[in-house]
Amino acid sequence: MKLQSLSVLTSAALASASWTKNLNYRSPSEHHPGLGIAIHKVVKRNVPTMPWNPSHLNFTHGVASGDPFPDSVILWTRVGPVQDNDHSNLTVSGYVPLYSHETEKYVKVSTAPVCVEYRVSTDKSFEDVADHGEAYTSSDVDFTVKVEASNLQPFTTYYYQFNVCNSNVTSPVGRTKTTPNKDDHVTDVKLAIYSCSNFPFGFFNAYGNPVRKDSVDYVVHLGDYIYEYAEGEYGYGYSIGRIPQPDRQLYTLHDYRRRIANYREDHDLLASHQQFAWIPVWDDHEVADNTYRDGSSTLNNTEQSFVMDGGVSVDQRKMNAVRAYFEWMPIRQVDMDDNLRIWRSFAIGDLIDLIMLDTRQYDRSITDLYFNTDYIHTISNDASRSLMGSRQEHWFYNQLTSSAERGATWRVVGSQIVFSRLNESVVFGEDSPLNYDAWDGYQSNKNRTLATLYDNNIGNNIFLAGDSHASWVSDLTWLEHADYNPVTGSGSLGVEFAGSAVSSPCPYGANITIDRANNYTNTLVSDTTSLQWNDLYYRGYYELHFTHAQVEARYFGLPTVVTRNNWEIPIANFTVAAGDNRLQRPVGNGVVESGTIKYGKTTQTNLTVDTGNNTWFVSHENMEVI
Ligand SMILES: *[C@@H]1O[C@H](CO)[C@@H](O)[C@H](O)[C@H]1NC(C)=O
Ligand SMILES: *[C@@H]1O[C@H](CO)[C@@H](O)[C@H](O)[C@H]1NC(C)=O
Ligand SMILES: *[C@@H]1O[C@H](CO)[C@@H](O)[C@H](O)[C@H]1NC(C)=O
Ligand SMILES: *[C@@H]1O[C@H](CO)[C@@H](O)[C@H](O)[C@H]1NC(C)=O
Ligand SMILES: *[C@@H]1O[C@H](CO)[C@@H](O)[C@H](O)[C@H]1NC(C)=O
Ligand SMILES: *[C@@H]1O[C@H](CO)[C@@H](O)[C@H](O)[C@H]1NC(C)=O
Ligand SMILES: *[C@@H]1O[C@H](CO)[C@@H](O)[C@H](O)[C@H]1NC(C)=O
Ligand SMILES: *[C@@H]1O[C@H](CO)[C@@H](O)[C@H](O)[C@H]1NC(C)=O
Ligand SMILES: *[C@@H]1O[C@H](CO)[C@@H](O)[C@H](O)[C@H]1NC(C)=O
Ligand SMILES: *[C@@H]1O[C@H](CO)[C@@H](O)[C@H](O)[C@H]1NC(C)=O
Ligand SMILES: *[C@@H]1O[C@H](CO)[C@@H](O)[C@H](O)[C@H]1NC(C)=O
Repeated sequence: MKLQSLSVLTSAALASASWTKNLNYRSPSEHHPGLGIAIHKVVKRNVPTMPWNPSHLNFTHGVASGDPFPDSVILWTRVGPVQDNDHSNLTVSGYVPLYSHETEKYVKVSTAPVCVEYRVSTDKSFEDVADHGEAYTSSDVDFTVKVEASNLQPFTTYYYQFNVCNSNVTSPVGRTKTTPNKDDHVTDVKLAIYSCSNFPFGFFNAYGNPVRKDSVDYVVHLGDYIYEYAEGEYGYGYSIGRIPQPDRQLYTLHDYRRRIANYREDHDLLASHQQFAWIPVWDDHEVADNTYRDGSSTLNNTEQSFVMDGGVSVDQRKMNAVRAYFEWMPIRQVDMDDNLRIWRSFAIGDLIDLIMLDTRQYDRSITDLYFNTDYIHTISNDASRSLMGSRQEHWFYNQLTSSAERGATWRVVGSQIVFSRLNESVVFGEDSPLNYDAWDGYQSNKNRTLATLYDNNIGNNIFLAGDSHASWVSDLTWLEHADYNPVTGSGSLGVEFAGSAVSSPCPYGANITIDRANNYTNTLVSDTTSLQWNDLYYRGYYELHFTHAQVEARYFGLPTVVTRNNWEIPIANFTVAAGDNRLQRPVGNGVVESGTIKYGKTTQTNLTVDTGNNTWFVSHENMEVI
C-alpha cells in the first residue's frame, strides 16, 4: 500500500530532500544571478515542523510529463494554497499575497516551501515503484514542481503521481512513456503534432481527441501554446465564456504565469498533458507577436520602445516569458549556461531523430514587423540573415549529418514556421507574394539547410511546421537549384507537413466560409509549384505514424471549436515511402475531404447546417464522434 512506503521516506526526506531536485529552482539559469532563484534564501524559510497544513494545499493544474529519454522523463505539477499565481514583486517578509477567487480578496500565505513526493510505476496501483523522490516548491517558482524521474526502462509506459509529503493530498495519476534506446530496433512510433492554441478563439478539442482515441505515443507542439494578447484585442472571448487571464497584454512575470495557468484550465489540454509525454518548443506568442532576437512587431524598432515595452524593457519581458515557460512546461533545460536554449533533439530508436528548432527567440535576425515588410523583402536573400544564429545552425546541420551517419531511418525537423515557398500573391499581391516571417524571409538559412541535405545525400527528411493556422503539404524542394516535377515529385528531398491551428483562426479570415476558403486554396495550390495540398478552413491537428517502410500522415479537421466537443473529420491522408523523398503518388490517394489537392478531387461531403441554437457549424457525414 502506497502510504506505508511513503512514510518510510518521510522523516529522512525532510532533512535531506534535495533543493535542486525541483529543476525550476535552477531555471532559467543557475549561472546568471538575477535569472535564477537564490535557493539558500528559500531554504532559510523552511521550518523543521511542517509549516503547511496539507489540507490547505491543492494540486491546482493537473500533471504533465515531457522530454522523454530512454531512462528518464520530466514530471510536472503545481501544488499551492490558491489557484492564483505568484506576484513575486509583492512579497513582504514571511508572507506572499495571493488572490483568492473564492473570497475575492488577497490572502497572505506563508512563504515556507511545500514538500512534495512523487512515485513512478508501470502499474496504476503503484505496487511496483520504479522511481520516487521528494522535492520542494514555493511561491518563488509559482508553486510549480518539475522533477526528472530516472531509473526507467526504455520505450515503456509509466504512471506517476505526486502527493504533499506525509499526507493523503494527491495529484491526479499521470501516464507517460520513455523513448527507446538510440540503437534499439523500433517498428512503429506515432506522434500527434500541434500548434497555435488561442484560448479566447475556441476550445482545445484537438488536444483531447488523441487522448480519447489513445492513438499516439508522444505529443509534439511547435509553439504558440499561449497568446499574449488581451481579450479586447483578439478572439471571441466573452461570447464563448473564455476570457483570457489576466485580461490585458502580457508583460510581467505574473502576467505570463497567470496566462499559462489560465490555458491549463482547458480540460482537453489538461487531459493531453496527463496522458502523453510532450515535446514542445515555443514560437513567437509565448513572448509576443512576430518576435525575433531583439524585439517584436509592436515595437517598430525605436529606442523608446525597447526601453519601455509595456512598462518593462524588451529583454525583461522576454525573460519573464521564458521563466514562466520553463516553470510551467515539462521540458528539460538543455544547457544551464544558455537560458534561452530550447533547441534539442530526441533519438527515438533506430526509427527517428526528432530535431526541435527554435527559429524565433534564440538568435533570429530581424523579421517582418509589418511596418518594414518591403525592407525585409529586399534583404530576404541576404547571406548574413539567420533564423537560428550560428551556434544553433551549426548544431542543426550536424544533427542532420550525424543522424544520417548513424542510420536512423527518418529525420524529423520540428520547425515553428513554414519551410516551403508559398506563393501568396492572392492576398499579398504579386510584388511581394512570400511570407517574410517564415523561412522565405531567410533564404540563405534555407539554402544552407537544403545544401546540407543535398551535399551529404541525406534522405528521408520530414519537416514539420505550425505558426500559419492552415495546412500545407509540400514536396521539399530547392526550386531554382534542382528540377522538380510536381506530377511525379522527382527532384524532391523530402516532405513538409505543416499543420493547422488548435483554435487560432484561419489566416484568410476568422469566420471564413468553406467555399471562400476553398477558392483561396485553389489559387494557392496552382500558384505554388511544390504545394500539393492546402486547407485553410479547418482548425485541427495531424498524426504521423512512422514505420521503417513509410510515414503516414493523417490530418484531422474540427467541425467547430466554439463548443467543447469530441468531433473530428479525417480530411486528408498522405504516405511517404522510405527512400522516395517525396509524397507517394497519387498524392493523398487522389481524394481529400477539404481544401485543394493538386492532382485529385475534393469530396466535401456536407451534411446539414444545424439551424437550432447551434448555428456555428456545419456537421459532416463522415464526422467521427469519439
Ligand atoms: C482544493 O480543490 C477542491 C476541489 O476543487 C476544493 O473543493 C477545495 O476548496 C480546494 N482547496 C483549497 C485549499 O483551495
Ligand atoms: C491517509 O488516509 C488513510 C485512510 O483514510 C489514513 O488511515 C491515514 O492516516 C492517512 N495518512 C495521512 C498521512 O494522513
Ligand atoms: C507588481 O505586479 C502587479 C501585477 O502584475 C502589477 O500590477 C504592479 O504594477 C507591479 N508593481 C510594481 C511596483 O512593479
Ligand atoms: C509603428 O509604425 C507604424 C507605421 O509607421 C504606425 O502605424 C504604428 O502606429 C507604429 N506603432 C508604434 C507602436 O509606434
Ligand atoms: C538561395 O538559393 C537560390 C536558388 O539557388 C538562389 O536564387 C539564391 O540566391 C540563394 N540565396 C543565397 C543567399 O544563397
Ligand atoms: C466572427 O464571428 C464572431 C461571432 O459571431 C464575432 O464575434 C467576430 O467578430 C467575427 N470575426 C470577424 C473577424 O468577423
Ligand atoms: C469563388 O471564385 C469564383 C470564381 O472566381 C467566384 O465567382 C465566387 O464568387 C467565389 N466564391 C466565393 C464564396 O468567394
Ligand atoms: C506567384 O503567382 C503569381 C500568380 O500566378 C505569379 O504571377 C507570380 O510569378 C508568382 N510568384 C512567384 C514568386 O512564384
Ligand atoms: C484517412 O484514413 C482513415 C483511416 O484509414 C480513413 O478513415 C479516412 O477515411 C481517410 N480519409 C481520407 C480523406 O482519405
Ligand atoms: C457542400 O456544400 C457546398 C456549399 O454549401 C456546396 O457547394 C457543395 O456542392 C456541397 N457538397 C456536397 C457533396 O453536397
Ligand atoms: C441549445 O440551448 C439549450 C438551452 O439553452 C442548451 O442547453 C444547449 O446546450 C444548446 N445547444 C447547443 C448545441 O448550443
